[in-house]
Amino acid sequence: MPNTPSRVELSPLTLADQDEFCSLVRASAELHSATMQLPATAEAFQDWMRRFEDGTNRGYVIRVQETGTAAGMVNINSIIRGRYQGASLGYAAFAPSAGRGYMTEGLTVALRHAFEDLRLHRLEANIQPSNKASLALVERLGFRYEGLSPAYLYINGAWRDHERWAVTAPSPWTPDPSLPEV
Ligand SMILES: CC(C)(COP(=O)(O)OP(=O)(O)OC[C@H]1O[C@@H](n2cnc3c(N)ncnc32)[C@H](O)[C@@H]1OP(=O)(O)O)[C@@H](O)C(=O)NCCC(=O)NCCS
Repeated sequence: MPNTPSRVELSPLTLADQDEFCSLVRASAELHSATMQLPATAEAFQDWMRRFEDGTNRGYVIRVQETGTAAGMVNINSIIRGRYQGASLGYAAFAPSAGRGYMTEGLTVALRHAFEDLRLHRLEANIQPSNKASLALVERLGFRYEGLSPAYLYINGAWRDHERWAVTAPSPWTPDPSLPEV
């Protein structure tokens, strides 16, 4: 995990983000078209926000500290405790801020938050083989390739193969109390 000073911070996604978020999703339609389906209307946003209610999924906006601009989003999804202590990442840049290193920095902050505050042990990113920008991003962050999962996610009307990439917590790591002792 890179440990350089960050230009960005994570803010938990709230209902107050609705208009800004939806308008940035609409502005990013081309960038997201093959890989991400994010809410672009008030109704879809409010429906989507329900997934964060029970703590299994957490959503954040990646904001540029100096300006407050929303540069992208990251979700820590499907958090499973017990002997797994893992989750899956979903992320996207917003087109007006893409390609400037903000996602690399935002995901670096998200990894630190996941390992240190949420005390997760493993984070996965599942990426379509054609998504070179996303593959480059997780490689920069120190994820390792674990294998190909055929027909893994239903995207744009079809079950798509995904590469499974993962990173585990750096040591020393403080476990969550829900981890069994033996
Ligand atoms: C995948 C995705 C999130 C990557 O976002 P991004 O904005 O390109 O990411 P970053 O800006 O952090 O990194 C990209 C480039 O910025 C460069 N960069 C890093 N720091 C920089 C800086 N300070 N100034 C300018 N550029 C910089 C990186 O080197 C990289 O360049 P390169 O890949 O051409 O070598 C984006 O393409 C996206 O939203 N795709 C659609 C949604 C998606 O696929 N999500 C993932 C599903 S698995």
